Amino acid sequence: MDSNTAKQRIAELSSLIDKYNHEYYVLDNSSISDFEFDNLLEELIALEKQFPEWALPTSPSQRVGGEINKNFLQVKHKYPMLSLANTYSEEELRDFDNRIRKLIPQKDFSYTCELKYDGAAIGLTYTNGILSQAVTRGNGVEGDLITANIKTIRSIPLKLHGDYPAEFEIRGEVFFPHKAFEEFNKERENEGEDPFANPRNAASGSLKLQDSKETAKRKLDCFLYYLLSENLPTKSHYQNLQKAKSWGFKIPNFIAQAKTIDEVWEFINYWNTQRHELPFDIDGIVIKVDNIDLWDMLGYTAKSPRWAIAYKFQAERASTLLESIDYQVGRTGVITPVANLSPVWLAGTTVKRASLHNSDIIEKLDVRIGDTVFVEKGGEIIPKIVGVDLDKRPLNSAPFEYTKTCPECGSTLVRESGEAAFYCPNDDTCFPQLVGRLEHFISKKAMNIDSLGPERVEMMLKNRLISNCADLYELTQETLVGLTTTDEEKKKSSIQDKGATNILAALEESKQVPFERVLFALGIRYVGEVVAKKLARHFQNIEALMNASMIDLLSVDEVGEKISVSILDYFSKPQHRELILRLQKSGLQFQVKEERLSTKLDGLTFVVSGVFQNFSREGIKKSIEENGGKVVSSLSSKTNFLLGGNDIGPEKLKKAEKLNIRILSEEEYRQMIIN
Ligand code: IVH
Repeated sequence: MDSNTAKQRIAELSSLIDKYNHEYYVLDNSSISDFEFDNLLEELIALEKQFPEWALPTSPSQRVGGEINKNFLQVKHKYPMLSLANTYSEEELRDFDNRIRKLIPQKDFSYTCELKYDGAAIGLTYTNGILSQAVTRGNGVEGDLITANIKTIRSIPLKLHGDYPAEFEIRGEVFFPHKAFEEFNKERENEGEDPFANPRNAASGSLKLQDSKETAKRKLDCFLYYLLSENLPTKSHYQNLQKAKSWGFKIPNFIAQAKTIDEVWEFINYWNTQRHELPFDIDGIVIKVDNIDLWDMLGYTAKSPRWAIAYKFQAERASTLLESIDYQVGRTGVITPVANLSPVWLAGTTVKRASLHNSDIIEKLDVRIGDTVFVEKGGEIIPKIVGVDLDKRPLNSAPFEYTKTCPECGSTLVRESGEAAFYCPNDDTCFPQLVGRLEHFISKKAMNIDSLGPERVEMMLKNRLISNCADLYELTQETLVGLTTTDEEKKKSSIQDKGATNILAALEESKQVPFERVLFALGIRYVGEVVAKKLARHFQNIEALMNASMIDLLSVDEVGEKISVSILDYFSKPQHRELILRLQKSGLQFQVKEERLSTKLDGLTFVVSGVFQNFSREGIKKSIEENGGKVVSSLSSKTNFLLGGNDIGPEKLKKAEKLNIRILSEEEYRQMIIN
């Protein structure tokens, strides 16, 4: 394909994908299948890779992320980002209405009632219909510039349609829908990472990630609730939101106009019971005077506007008997205490279990078996114990003694300094750890051996057919066929001829899984997907990683002391080195395979600096490497080019000139790789 045809096709694909994204993520009504959608996106990504000169910052391919930000730039808000006055009582709400009626002359005005979405606030600026920046609330005066992360949220338009003002800001709330949050937390637990306590924390944590590819995986969503501009389309807040909807924004339907405070109160009562049916969290209702001309008249306090108020719902609470406390053992040996409760109805579900997080929390609350405890569902999906009803404490109760030994294998538990959790150090034979590690090894993001599955792994371990991941690669048709379990419910996992063939084929296929995923599959504590990728890229092969010193490890991007110690500890154990040797012999990938597009930049060394028009910083580095060049972080006499976008620091420029290094513009670079 020639460059011109590519340009045309890229534009065509972009606008199609934008349209389908909007249908799916905003209108909840998709007109093509996931498969067709993925095909279009893949075609676009491939074309942009081949013709980087036409990869625009508004391309829907930006939504998969890729830009890395070490520190977010601080940006001053054009309009300060205020918060809302809160109330929990009907009386205060009526006071708010009376105050307003006294301050404004006309009787005839209305309120807009909206849900108070529970997530992280964001301010989006659009210039000529294109998303130009996204800033967090920060301290209200300035916040973090997180545009690359925000672009990964599919329901936020990168380009608008219709009669939008040339320049405006729109504010909203980024949140985690329940389903996505639960899936995401489950994955975290599978990877040995602590789950997030609630969707709100998870949403704001996700916006501050350094690697936007990671944000892209988290299925965040965003509702918009406030338009700010010198050229607002109408004088009604409600109408402005409807306008914004027509430009492509996700404005929920749960908005109502109310003429009187009684109507407002009705809206509040309705949602106080209905909120449990929503697929996302809300923590109250926001009431705003609709007529924007009245906003200036009513004015602002230092912290909040006088024309709006938030009515907050009480967190729902129930009291019930704490019958016992169990312990769960995770794949890395971390022990989590779980409370077993007498079933109690709370906020739309029956609650039987509650997380107790760790021993410190049990001690702090002085929770005892036989206590009547208060259980709350705030923003959390999993309810938590927030206190003890001391009046109901039985006379013979004794302080709870946290276990000192592993409930599964009896080993003495250990706790590292600075950590809240205890863990079982017996990673060799503690059964849940063996199962957990193997489940992790075969999981989709690791070796992706899907025909095995957790139940079969458990069965093989129980039958002593395997005890670690290297044993998997020594399985044969003979040893597999006929494998069965006495557990009636799990009988389906028994293995017949065909099943055995499939398992062996999947194991064979997994030998092509790239090094970074093999490294992740090993399940080294704190080495998640991202860190594994960084380590693989840095060390290139397992030998270099195994021989790395603390200093070597610390020099890797995103690797700190905790991770380094864990890696050193892992490789210091002879059984781990032996395991790797066996996996190597079985033919797994322990070396990075280079993706090469061309050899145009062979032997050339680049320093990359500044902000680019058509590439993210990471993207341009990747492009250099794919074309055979090398990227280093600082200028020296060995550097050939300083590749600079806008805003190269003056120090860097001076140094480049002094060392006689050629400064290359983005356009010159593009010419270099195209020709
Ligand atoms: S309006 C100046 N509307 O609540 C008024 N805020 O405590 C700006 N929030 O920081 C806020 N849903 O993050 C508004 N429908 C809604 C909202 C909402 C959630 C959050 C927002 C804000 C905080 C105020």
